[in-house]
Amino acid sequence: MNILIIGSGGREHAIAWKIAESPKTDQIFVLPGNAGTRSMGTNIPIDVNDFDGIKMAVIENDIDMVIVGPEVPLTNGLHDFFLSDRLLQNTPVIGPVKAAARLEGSKDFAKAFMEKYNIPTAAYKTFDSSNIEEGIAFLEQMNAPYVLKADGLAAGKGVLIIDDLNQAKTELQEMISDAKFGDASSKVVIEEFLSGIELSVFVLTDGNSYVLLPAAKDYKRIGEGDTGLNTGGMGSVSPVPFNDKHFREKVEERIIRPTIKGLVNEGVNYKGFIFFGLIKVNEDPYVIEYNCRMGDPEAESVIPRIKSDLVDLFEHVANNSIHQADIEFDQRATASVMLVSEGYPEKYEKGKPITGTSSVKNCVLFHAGTSIDIENNIIKTNGGRVIAVTAYGDDLGSALEKAYENAELIDFEGKYYRKDIGFDVEF
Ligand code: AMP
Ligand code: GLY
Repeated sequence: MNILIIGSGGREHAIAWKIAESPKTDQIFVLPGNAGTRSMGTNIPIDVNDFDGIKMAVIENDIDMVIVGPEVPLTNGLHDFFLSDRLLQNTPVIGPVKAAARLEGSKDFAKAFMEKYNIPTAAYKTFDSSNIEEGIAFLEQMNAPYVLKADGLAAGKGVLIIDDLNQAKTELQEMISDAKFGDASSKVVIEEFLSGIELSVFVLTDGNSYVLLPAAKDYKRIGEGDTGLNTGGMGSVSPVPFNDKHFREKVEERIIRPTIKGLVNEGVNYKGFIFFGLIKVNEDPYVIEYNCRMGDPEAESVIPRIKSDLVDLFEHVANNSIHQADIEFDQRATASVMLVSEGYPEKYEKGKPITGTSSVKNCVLFHAGTSIDIENNIIKTNGGRVIAVTAYGDDLGSALEKAYENAELIDFEGKYYRKDIGFDVEF
C-alpha cells in the first residue's frame, strides 16, 4: 500500500517509522513532513489544510490510505471532504469526521456529551455574550482556582487557571467580549478545578469497537517541576505506573466504553484515535479533555510500544473489524525527551544546524521542527520543538537514562530540554 501521513511533527515521524516496518507498506508519503520523515519516504510540501492540494497528492501518488496526525484538518472536515469526493471516497482516512472531531474542536460540545452519557468530568457551565452576567455570578459561587476554557481550538493556549476572582471575571469578559482567543472564545466553559495527577489514554476505534493502546504521561510546561509556560509537550513516558489494572478497569468502564457508545448513539462514525486526557482524583478517573488524534509527544513513547502491525490495525479501523484485531505490546518502557529551541514556546530562531544525530546509540530520534538543506546536506532547526529522543528500557528509569545520554549528544545553538521528565511517577 502507498500510505500518506498528514502532518509534520514527531508524532507523524513516529507513525511513519512504525508503518515502515509493515510488509503491507510500499511507499510512505508525509505531507508536509520534516527532515526525519524525508528519510522514511517522500515529503510533499503542501499545507495540511490545503484539501485540494491533498486531493492532488492522493491521486498522483496512488495513495491507498491516509492517516491524519494533527487536529486542525480533522476539525476542518478533511475526512468529510474525502467522503464527499467521487475520486477520494474509497480511500480510507484514519481520523474522525468533523462532527466527531468536535470532541476536541468544541469544549462545550465535549462537556455536553459527557454530561449526556454520564462520563465523569468536572462540573461546568458554558457562557457567551448573551449571558456573560450569569458567568460572572457563576464565578462568584465557585471556589478558587477558577478554570476558564475557550470553547474552540486555541493552539493549546485557551485554558486559563486563575487564583483571583476579580482577575477571573476580567478574563471572562476579555475572552467573550474582546475575543481574546478570536472566535474560539466567543463561548467559554467555566468548570470546577480538579486536583490530581494527569495521564493520557488512547484508543484506536472503528466507530463500534476499539483497541486500548499503552497509556502515557506528558510534560507540558517548559520548566522543570512543571513550572512556566505551557508548551506542546516537553517529553513523555510510557507506561504510567499508577495506571494499574484496577484503575484501567475504571477508565474502560466509566469513560472509554460510554464514550464509544455515546458516539454510536449520536450517529457519528468515529474512525481513528481518541485521546482521553484524564486526571486521577483520589482513586477515580475524570476526563479533562478529549482530543481527536494521538498526542504529541505521547505518540513518540506510545507508538514504539505497539508490537503489532500498525497498518493492519488501521485496515481493521477502515473495515469495521477492529474487534478482530490482535494487539500486542512491547513490555519495555519508553521515555521521550524533547529538544527545543531557546525561547520556545515564545519567540525563537530557526535555521540552526543540528549536529550529533549520527552519534546516538540505543535510541530512536523522532524529528519535529527540522528541515534539510539539501545542497549542503545539513539538518537545521525549523520549529520550537525540534527532535524527540526516545529510548526503551527495562523500566522507566533505564529508558530515561538512555534518552538523556543521547539528548546530550545532539547539539544545536540554543538547545534546551527538561532534565526531569518522569519526575512525578515512581519507577
Ligand atoms: P486542556 O487544554 O483542556 O487539556 O487543559 C490544559 C491543562 O489545564 C490540562 O492539561 C490540565 O493540566 C489543566 N486543566 C484543565 N482543566 C482542568 C480542571 N478542570 N482542573 C484542573 N486542571 C485542569
Ligand atoms: N501532548 C498533548 C497533546 O498532544 O495535546
